[in-house]
Amino acid sequence: MESCLMKFCRLLCLALTLPLHLLAITGLYKRWFPSLAYNITISYNEKMHKTKRDLFRNVGKFADSDGALRLLEIGCGSGANFKFYPYGCTVICTDPNPHFDKYLRRSMDASKHLTYDKFMVVSGEDMKEVKDESVDVVVCTLVLCSVRDVQRVLQEVRRILKT
Ligand SMILES: C[S@@+](CC[C@H](N)C(=O)[O-])C[C@H]1O[C@@H](n2cnc3c(N)ncnc32)[C@H](O)[C@@H]1O
Ligand SMILES: *[C@@H]1O[C@H](CO)[C@@H](O)[C@H](O)[C@H]1NC(C)=O
Repeated sequence: MESCLMKFCRLLCLALTLPLHLLAITGLYKRWFPSLAYNITISYNEKMHKTKRDLFRNVGKFADSDGALRLLEIGCGSGANFKFYPYGCTVICTDPNPHFDKYLRRSMDASKHLTYDKFMVVSGEDMKEVKDESVDVVVCTLVLCSVRDVQRVLQEVRRILKT
């Protein structure tokens, strides 16, 4: 039997998070989040600069024999990783939230060493618009903690990666 204390705590949590639930239900959260994410990314990237540079150092190795490199980013958000991708790389941006568009454009303007394919508004679980075995690299940072079905995202990654 649930104790009174548990019931109280549950109610308290609900009351405290009510504004967030309202933001989510009305869709305002989805609109507001990109601005917040973009702002946080600026200081996060400063702190993580060396780590990200090391992490993405080997991306260029996956280029075709003719030097072409197609990279798809799942949940690209505001495009925080663009500056770490190698020169000439073609980036396919995907994110289920269309409101990132404005911030994505800013990051694209700041990283002109890349070629950008269209911004696809899709979630990682269902990227059917992306052909089988059509990309050399898939990148996904700070995303899998918020996807509903990690297994399906990984299946999609396997499908679209060149063998
Ligand atoms: C914390 S942000 C990280 C953004 C970016 N990858 C970065 O490293 O700065 C999480 C991102 O995951 C996206 N996202 C949420 N659910 C997703 C899903 N099912 N598939 C793909 N992306 C998703 C969100 O829209 C958001 O852009
Ligand atoms: C992000 O930063 C800009 C400029 O400093 C500010 O106008 C905006 O309100 C901030 N967005 C959020 C969600 O904090």
